[in-house]
Amino acid sequence: MKNQITFAVIDDEIEIREIISFYLENEVAKNYPINVKLFENPRSLLDQTDFSKSFPYDFILCDNLMPQMSGEEFYSVLLDKKVETNFILVAGKKPSNPLFLDGNLYQGYIQKPKIIEGLKTIFEKINFDKYFVAINQDYVTAHKTDYIKIPIKMIKMFQIIPSDLYLVLGKEKAVKIFLKGDMLTPEDYASLEKKEVEYLYVNFYDSHTISEAIEEKLLLLTKENHDFPIENKISSIYNVVHSISNIFSINKEFSSLISSSINSLTSQIKDSDAKYLILNLLNNKDSYLTQHSFLTLFISNILCSQLKWSNESTLQRLTFAAIFHDIALTDFNLNEKKELKEVFQDQAILKDSAVSKMNPLAERQKLFMNHVGKAIQIINKIKETPLGVDKIILEHHEDPFSKGFPRQLSPQNISPISATFILSHHLAQTIIEMKDEGIELSDNNVRKKIAIEDFEKGNYKEAAKAFLSIKLFN
Ligand SMILES: [Fe+2]
Ligand SMILES: [Fe+2]
Repeated sequence: MKNQITFAVIDDEIEIREIISFYLENEVAKNYPINVKLFENPRSLLDQTDFSKSFPYDFILCDNLMPQMSGEEFYSVLLDKKVETNFILVAGKKPSNPLFLDGNLYQGYIQKPKIIEGLKTIFEKINFDKYFVAINQDYVTAHKTDYIKIPIKMIKMFQIIPSDLYLVLGKEKAVKIFLKGDMLTPEDYASLEKKEVEYLYVNFYDSHTISEAIEEKLLLLTKENHDFPIENKISSIYNVVHSISNIFSINKEFSSLISSSINSLTSQIKDSDAKYLILNLLNNKDSYLTQHSFLTLFISNILCSQLKWSNESTLQRLTFAAIFHDIALTDFNLNEKKELKEVFQDQAILKDSAVSKMNPLAERQKLFMNHVGKAIQIINKIKETPLGVDKIILEHHEDPFSKGFPRQLSPQNISPISATFILSHHLAQTIIEMKDEGIELSDNNVRKKIAIEDFEKGNYKEAAKAFLSIKLFN
């Protein structure tokens, strides 16, 4: 994932360098942003490259017979240094060195003087799209370099950091504070927390290293591993999915990894004791959104069992809906109920578009209103999402008074599964509030707090009835 494809063209003849760069700038650059660097010989490229960082060229187009160092010699240096690149030999003769035949960097040979023809044949076979993983966030520019924002919550999952990390201090300044390969200690996190740093930044050009590390992490989470207890898996999966959705555009690899990790989580939830999961969730220190999303899931699962709707596919649907319903709220600690109260205290702001442009509160209102639509856009990119999840997400802010958003659905028009999800969502928010206020968590106290009669209408009725017969706490 990067913002451009990089080429190094190495030939001692200036005409050849110019023909190749002319082709790249006129053909490849039509569809992709590129950067081409020209070298007279491999030595100068080697001298200018810092091999402790990731190799800066995606493609090397190189002559063979040159003074100082031949293309073949240069190729074996690259193999020794274990760089990742694509090597194309542009020479009068086909290479005889067996290194070229089994070297995995080697992409082919272009015979001089038919250079343009050779470039066309080789580049037709190359899928340049794979060099880009689209980024799904506004990035910042400091010191004329672009940086993307990575939540500390996500960085915390890596023992060894996959890419240099920066602190961005306004437009002019970015300071590198951790190096690729550094071990991050609990003291490091404590000090970041103390300074209230929630994000660090990765150089745009380097962001593919982060995306690869996340893929690896997700792969681990797809396994049902008993050394990795479900309590830890819940927050890891939430943090990874939340971060990916807000940093990258979800591609095919992410999509299948996200869904298989959620499916493996679903089967672990099915085999676990629901009350234990609730208690555990409330007692650990996960982010607000993790607690909120999973508490909603566990309660809706208990309600569905009571309603005899529960089976693996319902649980799978609820798990996807719970994880993704608020995925577009970018702040891990954003308390939805408080946000709703705060940003909607003044309805007039939202209606007056002239005012809203100037008003930061109106901006927040807009962001908040959009989180439902954005979540649906994200879930639509995950091909493996079970049927009906988008509907639950779309309806999660409707209410039994027909005053919800976005559609003010009446209790008769809400779908029964959405109604159950909405009641569970309301219960989850109430329980977290009770905990914050220091109220003892018991079924009696929850019943006192909930005006269940509000839900005893239309398609909410069944879920409300089920609520009166379930136990969430021992
Ligand atoms: Fe929401
Ligand atoms: Fe929510």
